[in-house]
Amino acid sequence: MNTGLLRGKRGIIFGALDEHSIAWKVAERCVEEGASLTLSNTPAAIRFGKITQLGEKLQAEIIPADATKIEDLEQVFTKSMELLNGPIDFLLHSIGMSVNMRKNRSYTELNYEWMLKTLDISALSFHKMMATGMRLDAFNEGASILALSYIAAQRVFPDYSEMAEAKALLESIARSFGYHLGKWKKIRVNTISQSPTRTTAGSGVKGFDLFFDYADKMAPLGNAPAEACADLCVVMFSDLTRYITMQNIYHDGGFSSMGLNPDVLALFKGHDA
Ligand SMILES: NC(=O)c1ccc[n+]([C@@H]2O[C@H](COP(=O)([O-])OP(=O)(O)OC[C@H]3O[C@@H](n4cnc5c(N)ncnc54)[C@H](O)[C@@H]3O)[C@@H](O)[C@H]2O)c1
Repeated sequence: MNTGLLRGKRGIIFGALDEHSIAWKVAERCVEEGASLTLSNTPAAIRFGKITQLGEKLQAEIIPADATKIEDLEQVFTKSMELLNGPIDFLLHSIGMSVNMRKNRSYTELNYEWMLKTLDISALSFHKMMATGMRLDAFNEGASILALSYIAAQRVFPDYSEMAEAKALLESIARSFGYHLGKWKKIRVNTISQSPTRTTAGSGVKGFDLFFDYADKMAPLGNAPAEACADLCVVMFSDLTRYITMQNIYHDGGFSSMGLNPDVLALFKGHDA
């Protein structure tokens, strides 16, 4: 479907690794809706992932950057403005990584050095992006900025470990920076709290398949797929949502409002608690 909602808009999408990545689907949908964009990921992800294919398909330049490094982010904004011929109308932060999870450290035994790295990659990088973009005057009036979050920021999902803290920080940064960017140039900042989604980062969470099925059964609409998340991002990047800011928007098929669902209870019939 192409409704031209993003015609003439310029964007930067961080975090497309392969065709399963949420950022990959968002980039495809944005271009379908008329946007031009640049893509960014770490040099290692560019080497080992498939983002080069996406760049070719969308005729989008790929600008390498470790999102925790200010000088790399400066390059992304400066080059993007050059390549796209002007300031940025939308930005997606689709970046997450837990060092402790990757190294199988349990939540009660966290390595705090690794945790700081996790928070830097998964949350502070969002602050750094907005601060760098503001300093370089790289955002257009009314621009729309999004980051992807998860409900573990509000509720306990033990296997999500330190990423719960990272997402809570990410959502808080969206609200706080949303104030400053809103006052400055009516720029909107929001987070989308997405259903479990089968991606490289998603599958890194212990017991992901059970997690996925449970949420799918609990939500009256079922889990929201990455393609639907891309649709929501398009709407949030468009002018139709120009007064939505500093919000965390649940995109989860209704999961976050549920208490009990007989479909889930049925799974336990005949099983001891
Ligand atoms: N998959 C899920 O179940 C799910 C659910 C809710 C929210 N999210 C969030 O969606 C976002 C995208 O994840 P995904 O599920 O598409 O997985 P993904 O693995 O495809 O994307 C994660 C991306 O982060 C990038 N990244 C890691 N370290 C980086 C760094 N230092 N600098 C720049 N980029 C870096 C990776 O290269 C990768 O492209 C993440 O924030 C994730 O937490 C995912």
